[in-house]
Amino acid sequence: MKRYLLIGCLAGASFFFGCQQNAGEETSRSTAREKEKTAKELEMYQPSELAQLMRRMYEENLALRDTLLAGKLPATFPKNFQRIHSAPSTSGEHEEATFKALAQRYTRHYDSLKKAPNPRAAKAAYNGMVQTCAACHQNYCRGPLGKIKRMRISAAEL
Ligand code: HEC
Repeated sequence: MKRYLLIGCLAGASFFFGCQQNAGEETSRSTAREKEKTAKELEMYQPSELAQLMRRMYEENLALRDTLLAGKLPATFPKNFQRIHSAPSTSGEHEEATFKALAQRYTRHYDSLKKAPNPRAAKAAYNGMVQTCAACHQNYCRGPLGKIKRMRISAAEL
């Protein structure tokens, strides 16, 4: 039981700890001892406000994707995503001009997604938004890039 819990944690960690590493690889290569160490570090890890916001953006945008794929428009959009402009990050990226410009681009795409008149237009706007997640992550935090790319809606489903 304990063992499964640990593995569960690590599976999460390989993604959520994603900024500096290639998600997934680390876990399979590390020894049991290293895993114990990682589990301890995990307990102490306090994600920044921006990191927590990013996790919600990931989850909620995946839910939004399901809605769009079901041919519907979402009834509401989360408001807290505006915090991307002000939430403090682990390494101070949020204070850099490049980050600010990319965050603006993200918000613009998110706004056009909100205004999309039909599911088809919304899907295209959604892909534009995912593109801005990826653009910022090319610069700042490459770990989650694979997951972000898989958020896209394929041409066949548009
Ligand atoms: C303007 C830049 C920018 C945009 C846009 C952006 N991110 Fe991030 N993201 C970051 C930075 C910087 C971090 C690292 C935060 C930290 O560790 O404090 C991060 C961290 C993350 C993390 C890891 C959080 C953790 O647990 O450590 C995930 C997952 C993530 N982003 C997903 C997304 C998704 C999905 C989108 C689009 C819906 C997105 N990001 C858009 C800059 C961005």
